[in-house]
Amino acid sequence: MSTPVEEIKERLNIVDIVGEYVTLKKAGANHKGLCPFHGEKTPSFTVSEPKQFFHCFGCGKGGDIFTFLQEVESVEFAEALRMLAQKAGVELKKTDPRDNNERTRLLDCLDLATSFFSTALKESKEGERARTYLEERAVSSETTTLFQIGYSGDSWDALMQFLKKRGFTNTELEHAGLVVPSPKAGGYYDRFRGRLMFPIHNTHGNVIGFGARILESGKHEAKYLNSPQTPVYNKSAVLYGLDMAKHYIKKMDATMIVEGYMDVVTAHQAKFRNVVASSGTALTEEQIRLLKRFSNNVILAFDADAAGLSAAWRGMQLAIQQGMNIKVMNLPQGSDPDELIRQDAQHFRKLAVEAKPFMEYAFDTVLAPLDLMNVQHKKKAASELLPMISLFPDKIEQTHYLQRLATLLHVDEQILRDTINRGRKKTTKLRPKTVVQEPITQPVAPKNPKNEALSERLMALLSLEIQNFPVLLQRLHVDSLEVPHLREVYKYLESQYNQSGSIERNQLVFSNEKLLLTWQTLELIGEELYSQLSLQERQQELLALLDRLERDRIKRRLQDLSTALSSAEASHDNGAIERLSTEFRILTDELKKLG
Ligand code: CTP
Ligand code: MN
Repeated sequence: MSTPVEEIKERLNIVDIVGEYVTLKKAGANHKGLCPFHGEKTPSFTVSEPKQFFHCFGCGKGGDIFTFLQEVESVEFAEALRMLAQKAGVELKKTDPRDNNERTRLLDCLDLATSFFSTALKESKEGERARTYLEERAVSSETTTLFQIGYSGDSWDALMQFLKKRGFTNTELEHAGLVVPSPKAGGYYDRFRGRLMFPIHNTHGNVIGFGARILESGKHEAKYLNSPQTPVYNKSAVLYGLDMAKHYIKKMDATMIVEGYMDVVTAHQAKFRNVVASSGTALTEEQIRLLKRFSNNVILAFDADAAGLSAAWRGMQLAIQQGMNIKVMNLPQGSDPDELIRQDAQHFRKLAVEAKPFMEYAFDTVLAPLDLMNVQHKKKAASELLPMISLFPDKIEQTHYLQRLATLLHVDEQILRDTINRGRKKTTKLRPKTVVQEPITQPVAPKNPKNEALSERLMALLSLEIQNFPVLLQRLHVDSLEVPHLREVYKYLESQYNQSGSIERNQLVFSNEKLLLTWQTLELIGEELYSQLSLQERQQELLALLDRLERDRIKRRLQDLSTALSSAEASHDNGAIERLSTEFRILTDELKKLG
């Protein structure tokens, strides 16, 4: 008689098993794909069907289906055996429960809990409430069975008693997230009571946790209660419904992501079968890795409330960075996929077909309320769209959107590019205070990088608060601004101020296109660097910058003076020596005062 391992190997084909994780292409007698164990761009991961093993020429890993599953799922042999046995329909002899590792025990326990809840929903008198609730939400009994939806009764210990009779200990139940230690009695009680139970499965279809919905709204309890983090349930590594959706995702080469459990259930019932839920949180790196196994394309079906774009945006940042293609469905405000599908599934399908690439959607949404003739609005558009554009790893894609934004804003593409680069630096450097950074604009003669950075900051700050211009007039020596185009702007403002005796942001007229561009760039930078600061902090920053520029100017002047002094001494020009050393003394004193 053959052993279970042999039997499993006979029944399963390594090409199918590996194929769930890696897209394989036939190459001669073998199959090839991108190695899941190390990053690579050209496939060196080889699967041999005749020999039923895999080998990667890149990282050297190799073995049979058991080794593969252990590696790719990071599980022990016992667990890999269990998973593959289930797949192959091979029954493993029940060993003494204590011989199984903890993970396997917990999965068994959760499996039993699932049947317990499911029976309670279908058969118990108490379950009537839940049955009515599901009926009201038009969830069919087939769907209920498919998703193993259940009901937890109001009792404090019904599940606990049931599972203890099956040989599980309190500690195991606690580790499975099913019971909670009771602070008073020193005992435990059932975590889930009086709720509709949505089992959460891993990709292999094992129940690893629960999402539990309250039946009546308006109670002072959270709508959903979820399993805590356990040895088998890691919230950030799971997508609800993926076990059911994965084959369809592969077939259709796209995953539709919705927010809630009910959205998934309703979608599948209406034959939208590539649907999974992020369960109300931003996608994590683990979830993205999981999704990429099946398809690189995502369709987002998130509620389009006011925060819709930014929520979706935060959730999609990582996915965009990982090179996934994201499309966004334009759902009517305040309605979730569950409602929409129940109202009109055909219409929902149409919305899915019409989903727009993420950036198209972002452009439309961000620009809709803006008037691009207005410089403030231009800035708003840039500050919202640039961070998104900056995430695209594909330079062609990134350039495409940059060009589009540049055209829309009538701003030089390079300026936008520079702003992105500055934004990158900022994320690593943090708070602006008077930290010298490389300037974004390219001056004609980049002689003194410190001065460029300081003057650019000063002018950017001024662009945010032009009412401070008189302070600059009083305290800034025009020689402090070494960068020609910044000095030009300054002089222009000065002439405007002298003409009208005041200066206001919305009354600035730049006759010259280049000046206008410089000014707009300064506004962008100002917004980036200083919009988070309070008025008082800005004032401090302004004074600090003025001081530093002045110190900088004096130091440069002192250097020039000492050069001039040397040559005056060499030529014994006493008049010049006298004049130069007086200025030298005065400036040295001033520098001391500045600290
Ligand atoms: N969620 C959660 N805990 C909460 C609220 C929400 O874990 N207290 C998660 C759940 O996964 C939920 C999802 O966020 O499914 C979306 O939340 P929401 O839109 O409020 O719920 P729906 O799924 O739409 O539930 P229903 O339609 O039944 O109200
Ligand atoms: Mn809902």
